[in-house]
Amino acid sequence: MKVRIFDTPEAVASALAERVADALAARPSLVLGLPTGRTPIAAYAELRRLHTAGRADFSRASTFNLDEFAGIPALHAGSFRAFMDRHLFGAVNLPPARIHFLDGAADDLDAECARYEAAIEAAGGLDLQMLGIGANGHIGFNEPGDELAARTHRVRLADTTRRDNAPLFGGDPANVPREALSMGMGTILKAAEIVLIATGERKAQCVERAIGGPVTTRLPASFLQLHPRVELYLDRAAASRLRP
Ligand code: PGA
Repeated sequence: MKVRIFDTPEAVASALAERVADALAARPSLVLGLPTGRTPIAAYAELRRLHTAGRADFSRASTFNLDEFAGIPALHAGSFRAFMDRHLFGAVNLPPARIHFLDGAADDLDAECARYEAAIEAAGGLDLQMLGIGANGHIGFNEPGDELAARTHRVRLADTTRRDNAPLFGGDPANVPREALSMGMGTILKAAEIVLIATGERKAQCVERAIGGPVTTRLPASFLQLHPRVELYLDRAAASRLRP
């Protein structure tokens, strides 16, 4: 894995936004995989800025988000779709028909997962997947466990994950859905290129284990070691446990 270390979280965000803008310039029909979470917010702000400056054209691009809560409609303020509308989609020229999202309100959630997996294939696969990482090493809603589902699947959310997402649901973890849908690690590893961002001391240990530890379902991010084209953009705090 290729590691790039930046002085500040802001520098990580602008490097990621530049990376995406460069990928769009090289391939206007880019198929881009997108994460939610606190870390990418600054990168999305930077991408909006690059778009306004005429340096990030999404008019021919397609996007696939990593995951979504189950049991709530896309219009719910706590949905990841609403998060993306706020932070990116509402401010760039991405055609709505090429924004792809898991529908957490689908009647048949297993069929919805299969539909999404097929839609990624039909788009020609993901060219560039942006990722965050949980402090426990999760990727998307692929949580540490005895086994991992390879493809897009339903997930029962851990209490810790529901607590982490409470700010999207009025601050009360009880309001956070109990289930979600997520791309699997196999779906993610089929992307041609992957860029993972991590900032802050809280991520230092999982970053160290993801890069240098064994590949294990106990740390889903460790599976990224199996991919030939992964870059990690880290600030100094997130990189603080890596050997120089
Ligand atoms: P965070 O989440 O950016 O809010 O830390 C990252 C993740 O859980 O993937």
